[in-house]
Amino acid sequence: MSRHEITLTVNGRRHAAQVEARVTLVDFLRDHLRLTGTHTGCEHGVCGACSILLNGKPVRSCLIFAVQAADADIVTVEGLAPDPETLSILQDSFWETHGLQCGFCTPGMLIAARALLAQNLSPTEEQIRDAIGGNLCRCTGYKPIVDAIKLASMRMRQSNEAGGKYAGAE
Ligand code: FES
Ligand code: FES
Repeated sequence: MSRHEITLTVNGRRHAAQVEARVTLVDFLRDHLRLTGTHTGCEHGVCGACSILLNGKPVRSCLIFAVQAADADIVTVEGLAPDPETLSILQDSFWETHGLQCGFCTPGMLIAARALLAQNLSPTEEQIRDAIGGNLCRCTGYKPIVDAIKLASMRMRQSNEAGGKYAGAE
């Protein structure tokens, strides 16, 4: 199997690696970089557990080879928190509304929500449900997840009003 040199940025850190052409991006993130917050579920693009941001867009990292992500800017769930000891507003909102039970879907849900809120800080419930519509959750019934994203959007707007810096179109 051929090996390829790639460089890419993950959570603000530049990485260079040699990877086999057959290695998926999710396996590269988990096995090579030890970023195991991104989960592998179905491994064929259905469940959304492996979602990451690739150049700002949510994508399923099980459907991409690592070599295809060369030179990309990637954010995984580990990159959502300001530091390892502090939850982001979005993560704290999931905690507050019990937006997770087993937690398996949570990294993908957080990535989908982050992508939505980067575009729209005042999403309707329909827009929230649409944004997480490709992410499967077996535990929560989705309502606490929708509530978490609503709460996060309100908190981010309040933070902006107080001089914060959250992206999003009103
Ligand atoms: S593991 Fe990638 S979509 Fe399910
Ligand atoms: S919290 Fe268990 S799958 Fe969503």
